[in-house]
Amino acid sequence: MTYRIEDFRKKQAKHSSCKNEVKKYGHQHNMTSSKQEMLNKNSFLESEQTLDNEIEEQVMQLFTSCNQATSIEKRIDEITDSLSQDFLTTIDSNTNIDLESLLEKFSDSKIPVQPTNFENYLKYIGNNVVAHSIHTSSPRFIGHMTSALPSFVRPLAKLMTAMNQNAVKIETAKALSFCEREALAMLHRQIYNFSDGFYTQHIQNNLSTLGILVSGGTVANITAVWCARNALLKPKDGFLGVEKEGLTAALNFYGYKGAVIIGSDLMHFSFDKAADLMGIGTHSLIKIPTDCNNRVDIQALRQTVINCRAKNLLIIAIVGVAGTTDSGGVDSLTDIAEIAQEANAHFHVDAAWGGPLIFSEQYRHKLAGIERADSVTIDGHKQLYLPMGIGMVFFRDPHLAGAIEKQASYTMRKGSFDLGKRALEGSRPGMALFLHAGLKLIGVKGYEFLINEGIRKTQYMAACISAMPEFELLAEPDTNLLTYRYIPKQFRGEFAQNKLTEIDNQIINIFNECLQKNQRQIGHTFISRTTKKDIKFGSESPIVAMRAVIANPLTTEEDIKTVLNEQIQIAAKILISSLI
Ligand SMILES: Cc1ncc(COP(=O)(O)O)c(C=O)c1O
Repeated sequence: MTYRIEDFRKKQAKHSSCKNEVKKYGHQHNMTSSKQEMLNKNSFLESEQTLDNEIEEQVMQLFTSCNQATSIEKRIDEITDSLSQDFLTTIDSNTNIDLESLLEKFSDSKIPVQPTNFENYLKYIGNNVVAHSIHTSSPRFIGHMTSALPSFVRPLAKLMTAMNQNAVKIETAKALSFCEREALAMLHRQIYNFSDGFYTQHIQNNLSTLGILVSGGTVANITAVWCARNALLKPKDGFLGVEKEGLTAALNFYGYKGAVIIGSDLMHFSFDKAADLMGIGTHSLIKIPTDCNNRVDIQALRQTVINCRAKNLLIIAIVGVAGTTDSGGVDSLTDIAEIAQEANAHFHVDAAWGGPLIFSEQYRHKLAGIERADSVTIDGHKQLYLPMGIGMVFFRDPHLAGAIEKQASYTMRKGSFDLGKRALEGSRPGMALFLHAGLKLIGVKGYEFLINEGIRKTQYMAACISAMPEFELLAEPDTNLLTYRYIPKQFRGEFAQNKLTEIDNQIINIFNECLQKNQRQIGHTFISRTTKKDIKFGSESPIVAMRAVIANPLTTEEDIKTVLNEQIQIAAKILISSLI
């Protein structure tokens, strides 16, 4: 270790010190006019360009980690820290820049020939990217599943980048591979609560996979379905399995007429991707209607399973949703577990959003039945308050993921601890560092507090909406998502008497769409939008709904009122006659 650093330093000796280097960055040297012309093409560089023979030094300088106060890294750190602080303390959810102006800002397809001066570059990034980025941590940005992060993740991100581990294999992520397995085992235990002996046996057993860390809920869901498919159509009696022989051969061998995945019509669209990738086609993703509380119709689900079996279709998985994307509804997981068990089908729970309810004594009961799932998706970058890029899939059977295992002679050797051998992704960052830190630094009680607070504030917002004549609450919130709509003054009479016609609803839809877009464009506060059907009136036409997601611990009751009041103010300026 010491030898290698020394060796590198010797090589560096021919380059100037950090201090001198920074000086060079700051000065314009003599150069030919043609060179000047060429350099002028780089839009970031105006005055400070460097000579060709300095490029090597500049580039090498970028790779040194020098602790002097004047080092490039230190200086960049100062600038980015200041940008971060400004960004994090801005209360508005966005600037009102329009998309056309943004497109224009990013229309240069040429890579600069010479290295760019970092100060100019950071100024450019600050003005063009940071300034017009969405303040997902703003307490008034309550429309999506992305919110504020705990402060420890920001310095940890620097550490993670400094370590630059590649979690695909032990040779590039040694301790972190075991750290990742430990963190996944902790969450596995929170879901399944098996015995101490079970976890001692499997936590660091290279033949076992309690969970896989992936980039998000989409890959987690795809991975779950992939494992289910390969395990169901496994090698047998000389048949080499779906993995080697493909879907057509596998269905023929096992005597099926086709294969399906079944879940509610509120399943996340990652299952469309999964159906496509599994080779069954999106038409074989069967979507069962949901009730007025956004939960799958259990009777219809049961009947569909019976029909599929009667038609000799393989059910790859029955999916239960714990926290639908558009309204936070939680399916009756116990009922679905029952149906899946009877049909001998794989039961997957998509708890990408709602999974962390398992931390709450008060609300855990909503997820009853999750412990019977063969696989469970939970997103770290949603309600575990970790940075983007953390999804997980957990397995009841620690050997199920063996069905997707791959090996390669140069890596992923049999018997190794390489995490990439049972994963869709190859190279991936050491996000486990955040997961481990979150679980340790926030803990069960900390997450319980966060979950309970989100639901408490959602109920507060629901109560505000119900008490305001301007709004209609479209469904009682199951968790911390809320759907509602604005009722323009002209329609309040009919609305009160339950006499809104389909045409009335269509006009109210256009009004709500316009209101949501205007609010987003102004940028002070933010609520998202979705489309619901048959919510209350038995109306056939879809209903445009405002969608609030209350997960940001920084959001106060006052913020919630501000968001609603802003909607009322914006609505007052919308003329219905201009919309129709
Ligand atoms: C229920 C559910 N499942 C899966 C996903 C997909 O997660 P990701 O966007 O992390 O891929 C989402 C995303 O919102 C979701 O709400």
